[in-house]
Amino acid sequence: MEKLIGNKTKANVAVFISGRGSNLKSLIKYSKSKNSLFKIKLVISNKSNAAGLKYAIKSKIKFYVIKYKNVINSEKKILKLLKKFSIGLICLAGFMRILSKNFIKKFNKTILNIHPSLLPKYKGLDTHSRVLKNKDKYSGSTVHLVTPKLDAGKIILQKKIKVSKSDNIKTLEKKILKIEHKIYSEAIFKFLSNL
Ligand code: GRF
Repeated sequence: MEKLIGNKTKANVAVFISGRGSNLKSLIKYSKSKNSLFKIKLVISNKSNAAGLKYAIKSKIKFYVIKYKNVINSEKKILKLLKKFSIGLICLAGFMRILSKNFIKKFNKTILNIHPSLLPKYKGLDTHSRVLKNKDKYSGSTVHLVTPKLDAGKIILQKKIKVSKSDNIKTLEKKILKIEHKIYSEAIFKFLSNL
């Protein structure tokens, strides 16, 4: 695999979002810490009204809205930006578009995603309601490599939480977000220090 860090000390990361951006917020915070092996150079959103863009603005991180009217053209634009900003690692954080096989191949570097379930259980959407419906005792979050197969790439880090009888979608989401805000940075650290 190509070296992400090279002769620079930190890897250049692009974070892709579509909405709230609470994971982006925690990644930005972590990236400013002394031990971080990465810096966030670029934020991409497919929604111009993504609330998370405010975190990029606040930290003076360059951001671009790519509206995805046409997948091929949009991915072309994104690839250009990734090149321009010398991005070595993409972190998907609530990005609601599926990257094409061609994009993944062309980028040719690592793409990570954070998914709110204990993969391989509950790939795709609506994870919390499925966990509750099945009365699972545990749920959690997983950081994994992105491959053309949805939510099926190698797991980098996973953490579980207990589902209590009184949990509903909102409380479960809250519990899981709390661990997500820790494990995404931990997973990136783990991944980059193992290169
Ligand atoms: C997170 O739960 C993440 O696991 C999933 O989408 C959610 C994004 O939340 N992929 P936020 O936008 O980072 O607050």
